[in-house]
Amino acid sequence: MSKYPPIYYSDYLQLDNLLNSQKPKSEEYGFRAHEEMLFIIVHQAYELWFKQILHEVDSINQMFTDDVVDEKSIGIAVSRLGRVTEIQKLLIEQLRVLETMTPLDFLEFRDFLIPASGFQSFQFRLIENKLGLSDEKRIQYNNVDYLNTLEEPHRKLIMETVKQPSLFELVQKWLERTPFLNSAGFNFWQSYKQAVDRMLEQDRNIILENNTLTEKKREFQLKQLELTRENYESLFDETKYNVLLKEGKRHLSNRSMLAAIFINLYRDEPILHLPFMLLNRLVEIDELFTTWRYRHALMVHRMIGSKIGTGGSSGHQYLMSTVDKHRIFIDLFNLSTYLIPRSELPKLPEELKKELGFSFRSLATN
Ligand code: HEM
Repeated sequence: MSKYPPIYYSDYLQLDNLLNSQKPKSEEYGFRAHEEMLFIIVHQAYELWFKQILHEVDSINQMFTDDVVDEKSIGIAVSRLGRVTEIQKLLIEQLRVLETMTPLDFLEFRDFLIPASGFQSFQFRLIENKLGLSDEKRIQYNNVDYLNTLEEPHRKLIMETVKQPSLFELVQKWLERTPFLNSAGFNFWQSYKQAVDRMLEQDRNIILENNTLTEKKREFQLKQLELTRENYESLFDETKYNVLLKEGKRHLSNRSMLAAIFINLYRDEPILHLPFMLLNRLVEIDELFTTWRYRHALMVHRMIGSKIGTGGSSGHQYLMSTVDKHRIFIDLFNLSTYLIPRSELPKLPEELKKELGFSFRSLATN
């Protein structure tokens, strides 16, 4: 016998509340649109998953709020972010269920929904804000601030989250605190820059010695190489980098970007493995949100063509513009530009290598 009082399945899950929360508008208006039940249930399922995503992201943001994030927390964050990405895959797949409803079926109840829209999903906005979609980056449609489409309690809730540091900001701070970059007499930037210069010089020689190129093509390739060099140089020149930050061409601070590059280049060192996994998860989350936005925009195109949305936006057109513009961890994607082959990596001093490894001494040898 359990020492706890017995509980009934339906009570535990509050199924009476949950299963009585589907109220089709068409029924209210005395006309039963069969597909409206699916429309409601799919949206509700999304909102439940949004709640779970927020539960995970809140806990991760909490862990990264401290000035020192311990190794254990990084492992937990990696696995929770992994859960978020699995949910996101489900969210993308779920659109297929809704697509079993045809555009004509949707028209039977669409007008009953105005001006409600997924645009008013406050949980979706909370996820965006907590991950780090900044107000400056947000696209506005018809000059409407998304906050103005929400009711007061939801608006308040969102305004509170805007004041808290986002995952983007917390990860940036954590990266800025990365040790090792200037330890054991090893200046990473100097060694890395020399390796990059060597690589670019090799590329230049390949272009110059390639007899199959016409003069015009050679000139073009040399120009491209120069652009790559300038791109690299902005990394080592904080003033140049800060100009790019101001212009919105970079988002992560110079120091955090360099730390992220270091982690990516030396990911095989045991101590950097988890940080690498964490950065990789953030890339995956960004990629899956972008995929969801694109899939949702396609579904909307298929459902309503070029009509405006029930929320009043240009519909498909507005949604497509968010696909590229609402990326949060885009710098972690662009980071690949700065990677160099393993064979060109500056060799780490022994002392530093030891620090980056897990040293273990068995009791027997003590
Ligand atoms: C028949 C199916 C659907 C149609 C036709 C549709 C249509 C639209 C349209 C036109 C917008 C732009 C705002 C507006 O003018 O209303 C929008 C935004 C949005 N919809 Fe949907 N939607 C559908 C299903 C869904 C589902 C199942 C979800 C899941 C929660 C969802 C979530 C969202 C979100 C979060 C936004 C805001 C996106 C942003 O501003 O970046 N939609 N939807």
